[in-house]
Amino acid sequence: MKSKQELIKAVKEHPLPRHIAIIMDGNGRWAKKKNLPRLKGHQVGTRAVKKIVQISGEIGLPYLTIYAFSTENWRRPNDEPKAVLSLIERTLMKEIKELDENDVIIQFIGSRNGLPASMLKKMDNAYEMTKDNTGLHLLVAVNYGGRMEIIEGINKLLKEKKDTISLDEFANYLYTKGIPDPDLLIRTSGELRLSNYLIWQIAYSELYFTDILWPDFSQEEFLKAILDFQNRSRRFGGV
Ligand code: IPE
Ligand code: IPE
Ligand code: MG
Repeated sequence: MKSKQELIKAVKEHPLPRHIAIIMDGNGRWAKKKNLPRLKGHQVGTRAVKKIVQISGEIGLPYLTIYAFSTENWRRPNDEPKAVLSLIERTLMKEIKELDENDVIIQFIGSRNGLPASMLKKMDNAYEMTKDNTGLHLLVAVNYGGRMEIIEGINKLLKEKKDTISLDEFANYLYTKGIPDPDLLIRTSGELRLSNYLIWQIAYSELYFTDILWPDFSQEEFLKAILDFQNRSRRFGGV
């Protein structure tokens, strides 16, 4: 197996994707395998997030979008939704200073409906504090659903009484306004589906699936996914 430095060197020989989107899946199964509560899996998962954000900055990736909590995750039993949201909030508070020092822009995307006002405020403040940074642009999808995003965009349009709109204009009605579409989508834990993630934006993304559970996903695995992407031929319907 190649070392991290060797992988970085190999990745730098080809153009980087501009935007990578990740479905961070498998926290619960990781915990179950170790006979730990599911929440422990989510906690250890935040360490993997930190490592992937670091390596993204290190190689100069422009945009990274991570799926932290979906509009469907409210269906989970017990207090898991609440516990996951609280973990996201606490992790943000713990990491914001270092993210800012590392020149990261942190932005949250998702529906604002149903999130506590105190959490929305922290998310807004984090963006305000970092929006002029020039390093990695990190988007965290919280209370995010691709269909909800499209419907919220359409409702905005209806309020503005627009009757026709172009493809490019419509993209400005999404949470990802101004952000280029992902070039590469990575999903961990072996599930082969999109789970309502960025369904508009991902229309032409390259897909990469790995069986590794999110808490075990390493910087090396991330670099391997990028190398795999760099060996693909993207045609966008052309030849
Ligand atoms: C992904 O891990 C994190 C969230 C959806 C919040 P899961 O919690 O879905 O883990 P599995 O799929 O049950 O293993
Ligand atoms: C997608 O994972 C959502 C996040 C990673 C936050 P899920 O574990 O919720 O997706 P399904 O239920 O397996 O489709
Ligand atoms: Mg899952």
